[in-house]
Amino acid sequence: MKALITAGGHGTRLRPITYTQNKHLIPIANKIMLQYAIDYVKEAGIREIGIIINANDNSIQNVFGNGENLGVEITYIHQDKPLGLAHVVKISQSFIGDENFIFYLGDNILVGGVKPFINDFNEMNSNCHLVLSQVSDPNRFGVAEVIKNRIISIEEKPKSPKSDLAVTGIYIYDSNIFEAVNKIAPSKRGELEISDAHQYLIENDFDITYSEITGWWKDTGQPSDLLDANRLVLDNIQGDNNGSIRNSSVKGEVSIGTNCQIENSNINGPMIIGNNSIIKDSVIGPYSSIGEECKIISSNIEYSIIMDGCNISNISRNIKSSLLGKNVKISSSKDSNQGRYLLGDQSNIEL
Ligand code: TTP
Repeated sequence: MKALITAGGHGTRLRPITYTQNKHLIPIANKIMLQYAIDYVKEAGIREIGIIINANDNSIQNVFGNGENLGVEITYIHQDKPLGLAHVVKISQSFIGDENFIFYLGDNILVGGVKPFINDFNEMNSNCHLVLSQVSDPNRFGVAEVIKNRIISIEEKPKSPKSDLAVTGIYIYDSNIFEAVNKIAPSKRGELEISDAHQYLIENDFDITYSEITGWWKDTGQPSDLLDANRLVLDNIQGDNNGSIRNSSVKGEVSIGTNCQIENSNINGPMIIGNNSIIKDSVIGPYSSIGEECKIISSNIEYSIIMDGCNISNISRNIKSSLLGKNVKISSSKDSNQGRYLLGDQSNIEL
């Protein structure tokens, strides 16, 4: 079995972070999002991985190379334009060949990996195996209508969903999926929709089976999803200290990187701090991830993702539910009556 993992797309909902960074490189609990996907498929025994990237984007390749260091073999497949998930499958046919494969959306994170679903697919011996999850907001997803354990329809982002079962970003196929993606037409938004390919399989009597996720699963499309995913991963983190701690309290599970300096601060787990970061006179956590080489002085941070190289000093109000890209600087103004801002397009601040 091979794996096909997406790392292209528009990333519109995560702007401005995605103006300068592919969203699949955003860290969740200080681990690159796409690394979770690669780890899941590797753990399921898959070595040959195709990663879809946008034309002219070499950032993923710069991080993962040919996969040798991870014990996998990565082939990069360029998509000229993000023309839909069924388009992704269509352009990957020569990489996949006749093999069965798992198609995994690289912005999905879940507990327990994908091995159980591959086992279900192999046992059920179907043409297409979908992974469903109960959600409270089904109209954001492809929604499966299930009667007597059979999927009888799939609708993309329906106004009136027929169930609360979202089709997650994990699909396992045999090569019949290529007939479907080659037969369907683009939707009104001009994309080849994967839900239409699944509907094609249903209408043409192919065998579609499913597993239901029982633990948590997150599609990290928007900033609040990233913070949620960060919380869910941190919930299972194990504390360890490789830095130096002075006059501080550290409570709960906290992972502290090498050469970190923590002084006169309260650190409340679960949380993670990357290598070479300095925290002084501050209160941090719970559910925060601080990247490498960050400096946090006299500030309070909670439930946030702070990426590498950020510098936050003397901020009197709590920084909460926040997402800071790399090398962001926040400091207090010398003049207490006025602030000074240098913000890129579509920055978002609430004071
Ligand atoms: P989405 O989250 O549906 O879309 P997006 O990443 O373009 O983001 P937004 O809606 O905020 O603009 O994409 C799901 C996954 O599929 C994600 O990993 C990106 C990837 N993708 C491609 O690689 N090619 C495509 O043509 C599309 C539509 C998505």
